[in-house]
Amino acid sequence: MKFHITTFGCQMNVHDSEWLTRALESRGWEVAGEDEAQIYIVNTCSVRDKPEQKVYSELGRIAAHLKRDENIFAAVGGCVAQQIGRGFFERFPFVKLVFGSDGIANAPNALERIVEGNEERVALLDFVSIYEEREQPEERTVTVPETRQAFVNIMQGCDNFCSYCIVPYTRGRQKSRHHDAILDECRALVESGVREITLLGQNVNSFGMDKSGSGVSFAELLHSVAAIEGLDRLRFTTSHPKDIAPEVIAAFGELENLCPSLHLPMQAGSDSVLKAMKRRYTIEKYLGIVDALKTARPDISLTTDLIVGFPGETEEDFAQTLEMVERVGFESSFSFKYSDRPGVAAVNMEPKVEAKEASERLMRLQTLQNNITRNSLKNLVGRETDVFIEGMSRKQFGDNLWWKGRDPAGRIVNVEMVERDGLVGKMVRARIIEAKNHSLLGERIGKPW
Ligand code: 5AD
Ligand code: SF4
Repeated sequence: MKFHITTFGCQMNVHDSEWLTRALESRGWEVAGEDEAQIYIVNTCSVRDKPEQKVYSELGRIAAHLKRDENIFAAVGGCVAQQIGRGFFERFPFVKLVFGSDGIANAPNALERIVEGNEERVALLDFVSIYEEREQPEERTVTVPETRQAFVNIMQGCDNFCSYCIVPYTRGRQKSRHHDAILDECRALVESGVREITLLGQNVNSFGMDKSGSGVSFAELLHSVAAIEGLDRLRFTTSHPKDIAPEVIAAFGELENLCPSLHLPMQAGSDSVLKAMKRRYTIEKYLGIVDALKTARPDISLTTDLIVGFPGETEEDFAQTLEMVERVGFESSFSFKYSDRPGVAAVNMEPKVEAKEASERLMRLQTLQNNITRNSLKNLVGRETDVFIEGMSRKQFGDNLWWKGRDPAGRIVNVEMVERDGLVGKMVRARIIEAKNHSLLGERIGKPW
């Protein structure tokens, strides 16, 4: 069978799609281009804007392929599938499978049953499987991407119920994986050539503190993964400020291969908005964490998520967000206008901020952020760094080829080199020669390794 997967949204979704791809490949199925696939899988995300419309229009496009082959069918997975569920079957008769984030574990089997004609339609929407039940095809054949970077899920779901967020409803309650299974997977990846691992979870700092946890804390997990010989870079995301332990902060000063960057969603700069968001920390606490991180690792690069126009946010509240962004000096941030998600607590909060006002605030915030980003990148000109090469740059200028990679903090660095191939997955020492708006240019000063 030939399948095609389209993925919307966050890193978790990308990772889920990668897992599904490997699981289907291990059954002998093949990834195919959009014009030859027999099965279309749409993996959806509802954290960001207007996800349903996006999925509907994607399905509309897929429907056009039915003319080529009437047996073509589609599967819809992820957050939007969890919300709309069987509703997809009525609206799009060629959708034969819907699966939520837990249901994905059984999606390969379900697809097989549908293909074999044993089942007409399947909905996998229960929050049932614990992570370990998910078949791990990579244990049979560890497929190492050319970039030698890998993501490893350490937990699913979230228990926080921030008042704007749909994740606890779509991805279910927090379930940690057993630390031995995580370590085994990381070791197998590194043995097969992976040099960079990113540990993934909605709230990695509360790893292990749920029913399926094994008593090992996130700081301990970090120490054991970092100790794997041959692992050059270790990252993790996402952190919740209320749960970050002093031991995790200290790890930034202790573990050499733990990269000096942290994504620490602040969401808002005003205590009253944070309270309404049910974030359970104050600005004072957040600033305390930032100070401790900078003490542990002075070169740490901090990034964040911000929401503007949360119900009840005043101009004064928003000004505090601007002030905090400046004070912390985030290297970059993802900022969003608040928007209602079905069923979350904030839907019933008043007064809503007018759309026009929210857009203006978002623009002011993004202008400020762009200036801070530009300045912090400028300050790096002249420094030396290691760049882990991911591929060729999209834009080429001059005679030589430009290769794109990342420095330890995760900043994009484009390096000019004579080589035409063989550099992906290699490190290159480089000196930063120029700062662009969102990336750096470097000149190579040594042999790739
Ligand atoms: N409205 C706007 N932004 C949201 N986010 C999550 N839910 C909403 C919402 N209802 C943002 C948060 C989160 C990021 C992944 O998406 O900033 O950290
Ligand atoms: Fe959503 Fe809050 Fe959980 Fe993050 S911590 S996934 S924002 S509920």
